Amino acid sequence: AALLPPPGGPGDAAGQEVPVESRPFASYGSALHVALPQAPRAGQLLTLLIDYEAGEGPGVCWLSPEQTAGKQKPYMYTQGQAVLNRSFFPCFDTPSAKFTYSATVKVPEGFTAVMSATSWEKQKDNTFVFKMSQPIPSYLIALVVGDIVSADVGPRSRVWAEPCLIEAAKKEYDGVIEEFLVVGEKLFGPYVWGRYDILFMPPSFPFGGMENPCLTFVTPCLLAGDRSLVDVIIHEISHSWFGNLVTNATWGEFWLNEGFTMYAQRRISTEVYGLPYTCLEAATGRALLRQHMDATGEDHPLNKLRVVIEPGFCLFLGVNPDDTYNETPYEKGYCFVSYLAHLVGNQSKFDAFLKAYVNRFKFQSITADDTLGFFLEYFPELKEKGVDSIPGFEFDRWLNTPGWPPYLPDLSPGQQLMRPADELAELWAADGLNMEAIEAVDITGWRTYQLVYFLDQILQKSPLPEGNVKRLSKMYPKISKAQNAELRLRWCQIVLKNNLEAEYSKVKDFLHSQGKQKYTLPLYRAMWGGSEATRALAMETFSATAPQLHVNVQNYVKKILGLGGAE
Ligand code: BES
Ligand code: ZN
Repeated sequence: AALLPPPGGPGDAAGQEVPVESRPFASYGSALHVALPQAPRAGQLLTLLIDYEAGEGPGVCWLSPEQTAGKQKPYMYTQGQAVLNRSFFPCFDTPSAKFTYSATVKVPEGFTAVMSATSWEKQKDNTFVFKMSQPIPSYLIALVVGDIVSADVGPRSRVWAEPCLIEAAKKEYDGVIEEFLVVGEKLFGPYVWGRYDILFMPPSFPFGGMENPCLTFVTPCLLAGDRSLVDVIIHEISHSWFGNLVTNATWGEFWLNEGFTMYAQRRISTEVYGLPYTCLEAATGRALLRQHMDATGEDHPLNKLRVVIEPGFCLFLGVNPDDTYNETPYEKGYCFVSYLAHLVGNQSKFDAFLKAYVNRFKFQSITADDTLGFFLEYFPELKEKGVDSIPGFEFDRWLNTPGWPPYLPDLSPGQQLMRPADELAELWAADGLNMEAIEAVDITGWRTYQLVYFLDQILQKSPLPEGNVKRLSKMYPKISKAQNAELRLRWCQIVLKNNLEAEYSKVKDFLHSQGKQKYTLPLYRAMWGGSEATRALAMETFSATAPQLHVNVQNYVKKILGLGGAE
């Protein structure tokens, strides 16, 4: 590394070599120590030039042609959140530090590079120059190099995908993105990032979506053909205010990013699609929280909003923030924000608070104390009333006590969509099936999320009496042969929980088709917790698909299968 002279000043442009040393930090990275020739003065600007090569770390993913949709050319992408970008470039890899960046990327002929940047320019020699002019935390820097092309879908939006997917990508979201942005701006204030583009990733991308600024990365599973999974896009757009503008200062406060984003997502959804549909979607989220808490136990320390992540007295005991990823920050966080709105008692007043909150903390990294302090300051009459210490609903309890949320927002406006699904699930769970009643229900017009909700009910009641699931499968090919990933996940879970051996191949096919963590892990858990046959299925499927999975996901599956992966 070299210390460069201050800009404009005299001196040797090559800079002064300074000694660097890599020291142990945690199981998920090491610390770069730089010995400065003298202690800098407070406020002094230093420019450090670091020459480095990215190694085998988990932040940079190299895919072979077979791992892409087109199967012709290799592909590389980065995934920074939570603490993976430290293997991509040397950085202060904490969400508490924000900075602008620029990058010059030279790629081989026939490839295109894109980044999470406010400007993008192609120069000669396959060189791309990027600049992010707003300060962002390290985890939001992202790069893709591949055989990708783009198509416009709105005045400030385009989709990026491999050539063989671009038609489908354009068709999925043509003309719908702008409305979400406009509603978001109306609710939360200016969209500061310039463009909002969407990049469809290869099938092994481990998330539904990743809110890289200016350029959201999404799983190709969103290409359902009917826009039914657009809630993921609305979610990532919502991070433009919550997460990317106002950022959690530590990963222990991750709920600030995700809980507020879930709330913002459902506010936008309510404006665009109405309250009944949004409540239905929120009910499926609540079902996920229920499943998660049932699986871990409500009292699990991860089931509080604020989790302890900082390394303890021994650095190697530090918890990797990625290992704390679960439904609690999302859905319990959503409940807490809904509770704050409930305390205010008036939607437009709460909307105004959210806008003021974003404006107050934009481009900063904050903790829940900042958020709640600002809330009480903004609503002095609530502070006066002591709303932060109402027995059973103390803000401190929300943050620091594990368990089911003490307050749940009212989702009854979704009843008109949920009730038919509840009733049909009842019928299918009965001992002697009342086929006449079942046949009287026509599900052909149901929305995808109604089917999802129905399947969650069936899963919750499973195993059903012998033979019922087989009949259900026959009766609704729309479900059991679905191509939609959310339906496929639930159907596979039902197949496993009911030991429907005839359809085990669907589990295998689904796991071969994509590598999203939230689809992959629940299915391996179900297989491992099942029979000898499902355990064998798990082993066979994992050995065939492991090389395609993101290394984090690989390690989590190994752990489930007792193959000694990540702790
Ligand atoms: N930022 C997250 C994805 C993430 C979280 C990556 C933690 C790495 C570590 C993203 O915004 C997200 O929440 N995606 C969800 C979308 C869903 C809640 C609509 C997903 O991937 O399922
Ligand atoms: Zn999110």
